[in-house]
Amino acid sequence: MGLLMQIVILSLLGILSVLWYFRRTAGLSQEWLFPSNSVPCDCPRRCAGGWQQMGSKCIKYFGVHRTFYAAERACRHAARKGHLISIHSSGQNHVVQAVVARGNCHRPSIWTGGQRIRGSRRFYWMDGSSWNYSSWGCEALDESCRRRICVQMNSRNGARWSQVSCRARRPYVCQYPLHG
Ligand SMILES: *[C@@H]1O[C@H](CO)[C@@H](O)[C@H](O)[C@H]1NC(C)=O
Repeated sequence: MGLLMQIVILSLLGILSVLWYFRRTAGLSQEWLFPSNSVPCDCPRRCAGGWQQMGSKCIKYFGVHRTFYAAERACRHAARKGHLISIHSSGQNHVVQAVVARGNCHRPSIWTGGQRIRGSRRFYWMDGSSWNYSSWGCEALDESCRRRICVQMNSRNGARWSQVSCRARRPYVCQYPLHG
């Protein structure tokens, strides 16, 4: 009798394990096997306190004046997958300008994450996203300049960008991706 019970219990456990396995792998008959009212939780992610959402990113103004590289390092420390800001549309350009204005009403020039590739006239963003928008002011790109050139936003002057030595010290705006 005891042996029979053990066999029955072990068989049940075996069947449950198989069902559990299929639930995990196929997921098809999940509702049929394990009916429940629970809806898969797809909670909207929120930006951390002090960060503002801009599309699929969270962004924040930092008032400490740093060189370009020090600012990029600070952004990496400030958040997982953090970088200096990359900007891909005039709408985003104005959001960043507004974030700067809220951080400092004098609207200082800030570092973006844009940098010229040495020896070329091409630019790229520190987060690796594509350089598909720009908001240059009237100054022309000085191709003869061999120094590394970094991109600041002149928050007061129509949010136009200009190129300055990466060793200049500026406040900066960081970003991190909201999803992942
Ligand atoms: C520009 O690049 C960003 C980042 O890769 C992308 O999200 C955006 O859709 C692109 N915009 C255009 C107009 O191609």
